[in-house]
Amino acid sequence: MLTDTHTHLHFDQYAADLPEVIERAYSAGVGKILTLGTDLSSCRQTIQIARRFDKIYAAVGIHPTDIFRSQSDDLPLIKDLASAENKVVAIGEIGLDLYWKEVPLQRQLPVFEKMLEIANDLDRPVVIHNRDAHPEMRSFFEKQGIDHLKGVMHSFSGSADDAQYYLSMGLHISFTGVITFKNYSELKVVKSVPVNRLLLETDSPFLTPVPKRGKRNEPAFVQYVALKLAEIYGIDLQEMKEITGLNAQKLFGW
Ligand code: NI
Repeated sequence: MLTDTHTHLHFDQYAADLPEVIERAYSAGVGKILTLGTDLSSCRQTIQIARRFDKIYAAVGIHPTDIFRSQSDDLPLIKDLASAENKVVAIGEIGLDLYWKEVPLQRQLPVFEKMLEIANDLDRPVVIHNRDAHPEMRSFFEKQGIDHLKGVMHSFSGSADDAQYYLSMGLHISFTGVITFKNYSELKVVKSVPVNRLLLETDSPFLTPVPKRGKRNEPAFVQYVALKLAEIYGIDLQEMKEITGLNAQKLFGW
């Protein structure tokens, strides 16, 4: 089953035509979609969307670049949202981001730590964002003694060594439409991930895959990510969809 394990359906880009976007995903064979909030108010919106559409599930969390608009009171409220709603299957999007430079690392780390604690308390997998912060994240895990995590490193952009490190912790790794871009040069990293730890995602509305590049991204386009991964791994497209679908089903329990 084709699955999109990472989208943000609450974004303004979908405000005018969300039902059509979802219908196109279903028609393209997408059987499950995980939509993720990035701060308290978008987490509430995300849950509303998951309640409205049967194949859509939610993740709640505070994204590192949204910390500046969050208050400390928001952290326990995220836990309340996750525990009260059975369509919340993961804690995310959470992580570290040193690319946008909006929030200093010292403010990101305690929020990330708290989000991991919520996931652990509720026994939910995590969806982790990491942009330009692999050394910092690895040293955080080492300092905290965290050597096992259930979840996924999403839109993976680290090295093959980073990939091996996260895989050894038990994490899954997912790739977006970036792997379809002409200038993408990390095929070796992709191939280093065993297929039973691989997930598909769009990260829509961003990172639109070829051949739709230049348009708004949407969950239906996860088919192009599946196609590219099937080509990279040299396996049948249908098999790629089935394996990654089962990986997602096992991880998120949907
Ligand atoms: Ni995202």
